[in-house]
Amino acid sequence: MPASVFPPATYCARCHAGAYHQWEQSLHRNSFREPFYKKNVDLLNDSKGIEFSRHCEGCHNPIALFSGALTPKSQLIRTFDDDGITCSVCHSIEKLQPMRGNGAYVLAAPSVMVDAAGRRIPGVVPDAEILAHPDRHARAVMQPFYRSSEFCGACHNSNLPVSLTGLNWLRGFSTYDEWRASSYSHESPLPYYEKPAANCQTCHMQPEAANPGDAASRGGAISSHRWLGGNTAVPFYYQMQEQLDRTQAFLQRQRLAVDIFALQPATAGADTGLIAAPGEPTGAIKPGEAYKALVLVQNSGIGHSLVPEQRDIYEAWLEFAVTSGGGTIWRSGGLLPDGRARSFRA
Ligand code: HEC
Ligand code: HEC
Ligand code: HEC
Ligand code: HEC
Ligand code: HEC
Repeated sequence: MPASVFPPATYCARCHAGAYHQWEQSLHRNSFREPFYKKNVDLLNDSKGIEFSRHCEGCHNPIALFSGALTPKSQLIRTFDDDGITCSVCHSIEKLQPMRGNGAYVLAAPSVMVDAAGRRIPGVVPDAEILAHPDRHARAVMQPFYRSSEFCGACHNSNLPVSLTGLNWLRGFSTYDEWRASSYSHESPLPYYEKPAANCQTCHMQPEAANPGDAASRGGAISSHRWLGGNTAVPFYYQMQEQLDRTQAFLQRQRLAVDIFALQPATAGADTGLIAAPGEPTGAIKPGEAYKALVLVQNSGIGHSLVPEQRDIYEAWLEFAVTSGGGTIWRSGGLLPDGRARSFRA
């Protein structure tokens, strides 16, 4: 598939300015050009050869993979790098492979229209034709399975095959599998707590005002193309303040429940000497004595583990502070003087 068959995002932006504005700041758009990824994949290219990065780019830069740019000494002009996972990649996916991850999808020839018989018309067509037949446009760019978790699972389950490691098959991340095993999928007998059914889109593509307007908006909103998650580094790097603010607000929406479950004298056994339960006064504490606090941290609003994917890159920590008379008298688990923290990886 020559790179030229993929219309760039600016083409879709003519009528979908809202989706474009959101996508532009998302990790999907920045999935190739951002410096943390570039550094990593360049190490692979330099040490093993660019053909090994086909493993990565099925997820990070699909047009580079499909156009044959990942071939030693390729002379292709790579204007698509800046677009990363662009509109015409996701919106041309016609089929999913069984849940194998690593970019397990099948692309149709990118098109924005089907003809009267339902056949795809490759390439772009005059705007007036789309506007005259929005139904035929929709059939070319939308499939019912785009609204399922399986769609996201094509790239949000990963493994390192023997052809890459030269040694063993290794599991990478398995966010899709984690979601299926969670109470949100309603597909697993394992979870204890009942949660309302939610797929990836329910949490990561909530309706957002289509600013500055979008031909497909309903009631002024579209399914958010920001895909807010845990990454604050990339929006910070590009000074995309709106994405950064929204990411922080997304993370602060009651995702974890943190309770001081009990207090007990430091010397007490596991189930003896409890002197406080949740919500009860802690009047029995005596100055000068040592106590243990039992803290319960529960995932209460995330449809998979906390830090589901790049566990070595994200930091999650729990800070415990004891205050008295307006001052902090004891502290544990926060940022250390070197700016790092004792981090929970999963
Ligand atoms: C000339 C204007 C125009 C261009 C260019 C255009 N679209 Fe659209 N698009 C529309 C209109 C109008 C609708 C609303 C269709 C409806 O509601 O029936 C729409 C709807 C959609 C939908 C929603 C379909 C549904 O079933 O809800 C998607 C997805 C979409 N477009 C994707 C794209 C992508 C991807 C591109 C670029 C490759 C693109 N569009 C380019 C005008 C355009
Ligand atoms: C199955 C699809 C898939 C494959 C294959 C894949 N990645 Fe990723 N990669 C992702 C996803 C999804 C994330 C985002 C994870 C997150 O935010 O926690 C990511 C994140 C990263 C990051 C962190 C970027 C950041 O800004 O935090 C680096 C670095 C990275 N990948 C490198 C690679 C390299 C190098 C390869 C090939 C050896 C590769 N990836 C293969 C899907 C994939
Ligand atoms: C019930 C809501 C919910 C559902 C369902 C859900 N997520 Fe998340 N997701 C979150 C929250 C909240 C975060 C931020 C906290 C974190 O990083 O775990 C997040 C973070 C992420 C991240 C960022 C990775 C990182 O290391 O920070 C990715 C990627 C992701 N989700 C993908 C998915 C995919 C794919 C699915 C479906 C298979 C899914 N999510 C289902 C709420 C959800
Ligand atoms: C990572 C894959 C992905 C990329 C990249 C992507 N989309 Fe989408 N898009 C989706 C999914 C999934 C939906 C359906 C969401 C839902 O409603 O559950 C969707 C829905 C839409 C809709 C319908 C609006 C609505 O409210 O559902 C439009 C219009 C659209 N996309 C346009 C675009 C444009 C324009 C771009 C590029 C600027 C783009 N998309 C990039 C996955 C993608
Ligand atoms: C073509 C492959 C592909 C598809 C399809 C895809 N993703 Fe992603 N997604 C990625 C890659 C690659 C990244 C990370 C880019 C980076 O960090 O450099 C990512 C990043 C994300 C992030 C941001 C994580 C963060 O740390 O902030 C979220 C959330 C996310 N994806 C959710 C989804 C959801 C929901 C769907 C389905 C509607 C989906 N993705 C479909 C490849 C894909």
